[in-house]
Amino acid sequence: MNDPKTSYQLKFPDLSAEDIKAGINGIIGREILLYETVDSTNTLASELAEEGVTEGTVVVADRQVSGRGRLGRSWVSPSGVNVYMSIVLRPDMKPKDATLLTIMASVGCTTALRRATDLDITIKWPNDLVVSEKKLGGILIETRVASERIEYAITGIGINVNMDSDVLPDVVKEVATSIKMETGRVFSRTEIIKEVLNEINDWYNVLKEKRHSELLSCWKQLTSTLGRNVEIVLDNETLQGLAESITDEGMLIVRLPSGASRVVHYGDLRLLR
Ligand code: BTN
Repeated sequence: MNDPKTSYQLKFPDLSAEDIKAGINGIIGREILLYETVDSTNTLASELAEEGVTEGTVVVADRQVSGRGRLGRSWVSPSGVNVYMSIVLRPDMKPKDATLLTIMASVGCTTALRRATDLDITIKWPNDLVVSEKKLGGILIETRVASERIEYAITGIGINVNMDSDVLPDVVKEVATSIKMETGRVFSRTEIIKEVLNEINDWYNVLKEKRHSELLSCWKQLTSTLGRNVEIVLDNETLQGLAESITDEGMLIVRLPSGASRVVHYGDLRLLR
């Protein structure tokens, strides 16, 4: 593999750091570091955050060899087709509020992708971008905490853009889709990234200005989770119940069959029929 630190002056037919930067409105994406192949954009962005890169720096890769998903899963990351990127954020937040970053990024991605593609994309709590009941993208937030504050939060975003189903392993084929598979059209990754970063910039400002209710109410309009019966696999148990609402910190409130309610911080959620 090339040394990822020296290979960012790159251009792909539909992916260019210069063209992304030219369309950026705020601090997020003012610095774009584009690589051909990395282990994981989240890992590289963490290293760069440790070295002190400014807030809003975005690491983008054409391909990942060890792309990571939530709950220790891997993220299929072939070259030439999808978006893999990680934003370095330095929010003034307590670690307990980190879920709001997932809420913020999922609202930003979904709003931008709906506008760009006309697809009826929804958010499955906590971090899935879903269309036709299949996964179109996901968000992986990784934080570094010091003295009870978030020092930096790496916001990793994977979006299946022009991928065909034949590159997917059989188990993933059943549950994943791409913008191309849904629309029959090929999209420019540069355009998708610009739209997503600008929208995330706007929602990040909403979060920084503590306009949480605006963010949560937009999330509620975009989610396919609330009002549904769900199953959630936690570390030591599996819950079933009605997904009723989310808390001000972005945690899911589930009404159990007993009538009691339970606040869930994280887990693997499945929508039941
Ligand atoms: C999930 O749904 O499980 C989260 C998937 C997040 C994938 C992205 S791709 C860019 C960034 N780098 C990674 O290794 N993971 C995230």
